[in-house]
Amino acid sequence: MENSSQRIVLTGFMGVGKSTVARFLSFLLECERIDLDTVIEESEKRKIAAIIETDGLTRFREIETENLRKILQKSDAKIIALGGGAWTIEENRNLIKSHDLTSIWLESNFQHCWRNILLSKRVRPLAQDKKQTRKLFEERQKVYCLADWHFIIRPELTSFEIAKQIAEEVFLIKFN
Ligand code: S3P
Repeated sequence: MENSSQRIVLTGFMGVGKSTVARFLSFLLECERIDLDTVIEESEKRKIAAIIETDGLTRFREIETENLRKILQKSDAKIIALGGGAWTIEENRNLIKSHDLTSIWLESNFQHCWRNILLSKRVRPLAQDKKQTRKLFEERQKVYCLADWHFIIRPELTSFEIAKQIAEEVFLIKFN
């Protein structure tokens, strides 16, 4: 039986592929998706990196929570891709739970994330230095662990295959 009313958030470390998986998932489920970082950049009319550099990380987190609250209240999007730090904030986790969303952790190893960070054109102020970024990665594992579902991103799997796995296991969709 298809679980069509389910709404989800995708979480996981920077570079794990949350936005790409969200895009494929919205294609497979034929539903709307939303990217929290994009919503923030549109509402602030600035890049995330500029917000963090100009206003600081604490202010960025406030803006992030304000926008998450807005999305949860106003958007019908079934799939929400979070920025990598959003799930680490308790207030955000409580908001997500109080709106009955299912949380999915895209789990991978540091090397995979770091490689994608280096390949990406996006400026990530919290991933400037490999050693610091690895430390952040390790510190966050115990919080990502609190998500309802864990999907391990193995190197041989494409983002499309991960999306398909989520569609099958979480949304109970059957593909031929
Ligand atoms: C952050 C991750 C970024 C972005 C911001 C902070 C984090 O999103 O929200 O730079 O704290 O991990 P991505 O995970 O999409 O890179």
